[in-house]
Amino acid sequence: MFVSLGLNTRLLFAVAAVALGSAFQHGYNLGVINAPTELIGDWLNSTSYNRTGEYLTETSKTMIFSLVASIYCVGGIFGGLSTGFFSERFGRKGGLLINNIFAFIAAILFGFCKMAGSYEMIIAGRFFIGINNGLNAGLAPMYLSEIAPTSLRGAIGTVYQLAVTISILFSQIMGLDSILGTESLWPILLALTAGPAVLQLFTLPICPESPKHLLINKGKQIEAQRALSWLRDTSNVHDEMEEMRNEAEAQKLVPAVSVREILTNPTLRIPLVIAVMMMLAQQFSGINAVIFFSTSIFESAGLDATASLNATIAMGAMNVAMTIVSLVMVERAGRKTLMLTGLGGMLGVCLLLTLCLALQHLGTWISYLSIILVILFVVMFATGPGSIPWFLVNEIFASNARPTAASIAVGVNWIAAFFVGLLFLPIAQALGPYVFLVFVVLLAGFIVFTIKKVPETKGRSIDEITAMFKQQAYGNGNSV
Ligand SMILES: *[C@@H]1O[C@H](CO)[C@@H](O)[C@H](O)[C@H]1NC(C)=O
Repeated sequence: MFVSLGLNTRLLFAVAAVALGSAFQHGYNLGVINAPTELIGDWLNSTSYNRTGEYLTETSKTMIFSLVASIYCVGGIFGGLSTGFFSERFGRKGGLLINNIFAFIAAILFGFCKMAGSYEMIIAGRFFIGINNGLNAGLAPMYLSEIAPTSLRGAIGTVYQLAVTISILFSQIMGLDSILGTESLWPILLALTAGPAVLQLFTLPICPESPKHLLINKGKQIEAQRALSWLRDTSNVHDEMEEMRNEAEAQKLVPAVSVREILTNPTLRIPLVIAVMMMLAQQFSGINAVIFFSTSIFESAGLDATASLNATIAMGAMNVAMTIVSLVMVERAGRKTLMLTGLGGMLGVCLLLTLCLALQHLGTWISYLSIILVILFVVMFATGPGSIPWFLVNEIFASNARPTAASIAVGVNWIAAFFVGLLFLPIAQALGPYVFLVFVVLLAGFIVFTIKKVPETKGRSIDEITAMFKQQAYGNGNSV
């Protein structure tokens, strides 16, 4: 059956080279500093003592660690913004290959920061790996969607996200104290990020550049045809070449929408506000706070270190499982429904979690209840807010506005993740068990917005959807 859809070993090889080399890189670094939070904190403390003769206060330790966690997102913003430049200048494949330089720089900084007694090195490393991840998040899905035959585009498009959730889980397993999560080995745990880069340098050069890039951006007919023949494993690619040529012609007729235009034209501004709000909902729902800091949440719920790590791993496994479920559900249940189910569920869990954290003294069963709740939180996230915002951006804009809209949305996503990473621990220290109430308020706001403003896009064409926004903008004087 798959053969008839156009799947062959070569295409599979190219998809694997990108999934393992790029998506894996991204997920690994999202999850990797979670398990060794405590170890890195102790190291920051003793490094400070060796330098200045003074230990860090709890507050300054938290500040430095939050910086280590969140400078990653600053790198991600830079990487994300450079996606356009890299993909045009070096091509999709070329950009992905060059991007591995950042991974090697980061791996060296991570590997030697402890030896050198320098926390500047780990901070710089997180910045560089952030650049790498931001570029991967832009280039890899682009390459994947451009090499996929039409019949497999949906399935191959979801490979990136799935590989990210699997590698978050992998990083948490590697961080177990029986593997690399020890006082002497944690720098290696972080430096392991060189692994996917090496793998990609050996596999991706065998694959061709994206045929669409060769044809549409570079105008290289023969090379595009050769690349396509390689990927389809047949020299009979005449029809598909013809399709791509038509696409290139069509693109020339509709000029791309600029950032300025998207911000000023009301018909485009309404969907932009929706896209941006959905990204904010994804980040300010509290998920990154939970992923970054789940181990310390479990410990403060009264679990010992090993039990907290096991709970973290259970959480990662549920994330993978639910991401698969949601990818299947999205075509059936509809985007808006899934988004609201997820947000509503997270709100409920936040309320219960606050109760549990406040009532911890009642007994150990409360601790176990809070673990279940944290896992449920991740399940609810994966149901909707995890994937729906990415779908929506592509569904509420016509293709000439899509690239600009997507870069704004991705930029907003990284910036929001940065603030959550930076602010969560200090706020958690100040508010104690009531920290999740902050997310209750935010989630309530996002639910109201989704109910009132977000259209259901399932089963509707782009033309219908854009016509509806036009009607909203000019028809009854209502604007967002
Ligand atoms: C730093 O280390 C010292 C000595 O081990 C310890 O007493 C102190 O509590 C630590 N400070 C922090 C903020 O972890």
